[in-house]
Amino acid sequence: PWSAERALSIVAEHAHQRGALLPILHALQDTFGCIDEEAIPLLAGALNLSRADVHGVVSFYHDFRRTRPGRHTVKICRAEACQAMGADALLDHVRRRLTVDPHGTTADGVFTVEPVFCLGNCALSPAVMIDGTLHGRVGPERFDALTAELRD
Ligand code: FES
Repeated sequence: PWSAERALSIVAEHAHQRGALLPILHALQDTFGCIDEEAIPLLAGALNLSRADVHGVVSFYHDFRRTRPGRHTVKICRAEACQAMGADALLDHVRRRLTVDPHGTTADGVFTVEPVFCLGNCALSPAVMIDGTLHGRVGPERFDALTAELRD
């Protein structure tokens, strides 16, 4: 969970660097899983920036998430080879099945779904990566089977 004290010690570790904001944001996300709302004023104060500046940087980089990710991360490839093999239909299926928007997390906090561009598994498209493990030729049924095991 978020801790202002812990966040401040992360800020202190990096504050001497030039362009400290980015390394601090990465460290905060590594520690807390996301950039907490409370981090914005804290960073603005510590680095002498406006809240709007900090907010702008956080929203500019897609790497930074504003909410904690689910317990499992599902990456769905949307690049060309996978598109040709039905990646869009798979993503639609995932949205309905998990009731989640792309880049979102399910209400029960179990899954975060990230559309991505090329998982390097183009020969076995459509490709999906679940918690760092690559799966090839994933149709809707296979997707359901793979994620069913992770629900509990
Ligand atoms: Fe999907 Fe490369 S296009 S893995």
